[in-house]
Order: sequence, then structure tokens, then C-alpha cells
Amino acid sequence: MSKKLLLEHIDVPGINTYEVYRQKGGYASVEKALKSMTPETIVEEVKKSGLRGRGGAGFPAGMKWSFLAKPDGVPRHLLCNADESEPGTFKDRYLMEKIPHLLIEGMIVSSFALGANVSYIYIRGEYMWVSFILERAIAEAKANGFLGKNILGSGYDLELYVQVGGGAYICGEETALIESLEGKRGNPRMKPPFPAVKGLWQRPTVVNNVETIAAVVWILNNSGEDYAKIGIGKSTGTKLISASGNIKRQGVYEIELGLPVDEFLNSDEYCGGMANGKRLKAVVPGGSSVPILPAELFYKTANGDARLMSYESLADGGFATGSMLGSGGFVVYDEDACIVRNTWNFTRFYNHESCGQCSPCREGTGWMLKVLNKLEHGQGSMEDIDLLWDIQRRIEGNTICPLGDAAAWPVAAAIRHFREEFEWHVKNPKLCMERNYGLLESTKKFELVS
Ligand SMILES: Cc1cc2nc3c(=O)[nH]c(=O)nc-3n(C[C@H](O)[C@H](O)[C@H](O)COP(=O)(O)O)c2cc1C
Repeated sequence: MSKKLLLEHIDVPGINTYEVYRQKGGYASVEKALKSMTPETIVEEVKKSGLRGRGGAGFPAGMKWSFLAKPDGVPRHLLCNADESEPGTFKDRYLMEKIPHLLIEGMIVSSFALGANVSYIYIRGEYMWVSFILERAIAEAKANGFLGKNILGSGYDLELYVQVGGGAYICGEETALIESLEGKRGNPRMKPPFPAVKGLWQRPTVVNNVETIAAVVWILNNSGEDYAKIGIGKSTGTKLISASGNIKRQGVYEIELGLPVDEFLNSDEYCGGMANGKRLKAVVPGGSSVPILPAELFYKTANGDARLMSYESLADGGFATGSMLGSGGFVVYDEDACIVRNTWNFTRFYNHESCGQCSPCREGTGWMLKVLNKLEHGQGSMEDIDLLWDIQRRIEGNTICPLGDAAAWPVAAAIRHFREEFEWHVKNPKLCMERNYGLLESTKKFELVS
């Protein structure tokens, strides 16, 4: 059994209520932090833990916190990023829905560490019912003296608000989130200045993912050093993974970082292996933005090492033969899945979600979609595959925010690893048309492509 730092009590009946959460030791980290620690010692513990941001980029949380200048009287803010719109990712929803007080507790100790007296949880609009769960948990915490004025008699004040998001994937990008929270259209800002210097209302601000903030609770209840002992190398601690696709047991799992991918996919404790006796074709290990890995590169790196669920191992080989842990959205494709159709589908999403500010992303995602439309519907040519490659190459690295990269990487990886499937679409226009008009079972088509 792997370690459970976040989900240990997830199945306890009533754990979503203050009463049961408290019986299980909830809010102990707030008592410890406010009575026996200083903001500086908390930041130090988080640094020692090696905790990396769980929103996708994996930036060390303690380092990000230490970018805030010393308090100088200007208000500062902690923003929890609960926008979670990356296709394949649903771990934050699970945590907030099942054990909302863990996030509230993490927000209190983290806000105290950062010197923030007003903090926000920015939650995606489609999670409306979860926002109600959070509102109720906040009211309970406040009624029990953990929020509001003079928390536990310490002299520390904190107001925590839930803001329902603007209904766009781009609002999960930290500076777009800030714009949206300020009541504007969620367009990313140029960086620098980074939010630590000029964030919400031009004030020092930290944006962290739900899971990152929740992990701080365990770190304070134990120690940064204890946390750093869990996991592997620079991938310390545990990670929530949302597993989907044609596997036996879809769901959210907490794994110790460093777990072999083979064990995660095939053991009954986690995904339980492929469903319906199908063979594995490919895995997107970290949400729709990260490169897809064909089965052979999923199990083993290009050097022949067993692939592990860690930031480093999944990225081994760079984008030529590796991928990323990303947000932990683990999507499994079996032998019947059509990679061209999947790439077309992802590209529809990115094209729809591009904010339109940068031409390479606004125009490029549109052109990629046009070309993929042709290929998927049996009207493409071999030159179109090269054109597609060329367009994605011109988007990557040429936009204000990483949404452009997120749109380009899946296309690049699909062509790199599954070019023969793109070519099959060119060579078999009739079968493509028939499948798209429902005349052929989708499963038949890829018997031709091993
Ligand atoms: C288009 C786009 C969407 C994003 N969506 C999310 C999101 O839903 N949740 C999240 O935590 N981070 C998201 N991020 C990453 C954030 O910009 C930011 O890096 C993160 O919230 C920082 O938290 P962390 O350091 O705890 O990971 C997104 C980034 C981009 C470019």
C-alpha cells in the first residue's frame, strides 16, 4: 500500500464536515503554525520539503513563496488555482468535493506564511456545486474560529473567498486568473513582472494549485524533511493522478512519486490494467498538453530504464522520447484508438480556448485544426502532414503564455510517434469518410495499422 498524505481519510463518512474532519486531527497544522511557528519558519519547512507545484509546471513551492518581498504594509494575496480545465485532469475536484477542509486548512497556514489577510479560491465555473461545498466548509471554519479576525487568539486575521471562474481554460493560467479575478477578460499578462512582484491589483501575489496548498498541511504536521524522504530524487512526496481511458479502474489515485508506470497501470491497487483484453497503444501521462507516449516508450525510456511516475523519469529523453508529469491527467489509449482523431479533438479544444491575444496561437491553432479536419475526414495529402508539423513548430515558444505550447506539443508528438497513422488517413480516404459518417465500426480501421 502506498503512502496517503492527502487522501488518508477520504473514505471516512462525514469527512466533508468540520466535526468529522476535526476528529481526524484536522486544523492541527493551523494550531501549530499560529502558536509555535513564524511565517519564515513555515516557508523554510516548505522549502526543505522539496514540494513542487502540482498545477503542471512543477515549480518548487517554497522557492516561489520566497520571491515575495518582506512585508512592507502593502496587502498581499494567496490565490488558489482550482480552475482545473485541462482535459484528462479531475484530481482537484475530487479533493475539494470529498475533503474540502483540507484545502481550507492549507489556505490558512499558507496565507499566514505569506502574510496574506485576504485570499481567494478561484474555481472553474463548471464546478459550481463544488463551490457550494467550499462555501459551506469556509462558513464552518469561520464559526469555529479558524477564519476571520484574530484566529485562535493569535492576532492573525484572514478572510477567504471563493470566486467562480470565467468559464475558460485560459483562466487557469496564473496571470489570466488574476485578470479574471479583477473582473476583466482572462487574458494572460506579459511576464515580468511576475505575480510575486505585481499580481492581484498590482500587489504581491502567489498563485498555487489546490493540491500544492493541501500538501502544506502534512508538511507542517510532520516536517519538510519527512516529506522530502517520500518520493524519489527531486520528485518528493505524493501526487494525485486522475486516470481515465480504457482501463479497468478509472479514478483518482494518490501515488508515491517514483512508482513504476507499469505498476500504476497494471496493478489492482491502481488502474487494474487494460479493460476488455485490449492492448496498450499509448498514454498521455500528464493531461492533454503533454506529449503522448507510445506503449514502448511509456514502459521504458529510450535508454531502456523502467519508466517511473516522477517529473524526471517521465521527461527522460526530452520531447523526442519522453513526456511530462504535468497535472497528473493520465489518459490511456488502447489498440483501437485513433491517434489522428484524438489529436484533432485536442486541437479543437485548444483552438476554442485560445484567448486570441497572440497571433501564432490564435491563427496557428485554427490552421492546425483545418489541416487535421482534412486528414481526419480522408481529404488530406502527405504534404498536409508536413504542413501540420510546420505550423506547430511556429507556435511553440512564440506566445505570451504556454497555451500555445500546450496546443503544439500534442500535435508534434502525435506526428513524431504515429506518422504512419496520419499517412494511413491519406492513403485510405474512403475508410476515413465511412467511419466519420458512421458506416464503419471505428474499431475496424486500425486493424490495418499495427
Ligand atoms: C492555459 C493554462 C491553463 C492552466 N490551468 C491551470 C489550472 O487549471 N490549474 C492550475 O493549478 N494551474 C494551471 N495552469 C498553471 C498556472 O499558470 C500556474 O503555473 C499554477 O497554478 C501554479 O501553481 P503550482 O505552482 O502550485 O503548480 C495553467 C497554465 C496554462 C498556460
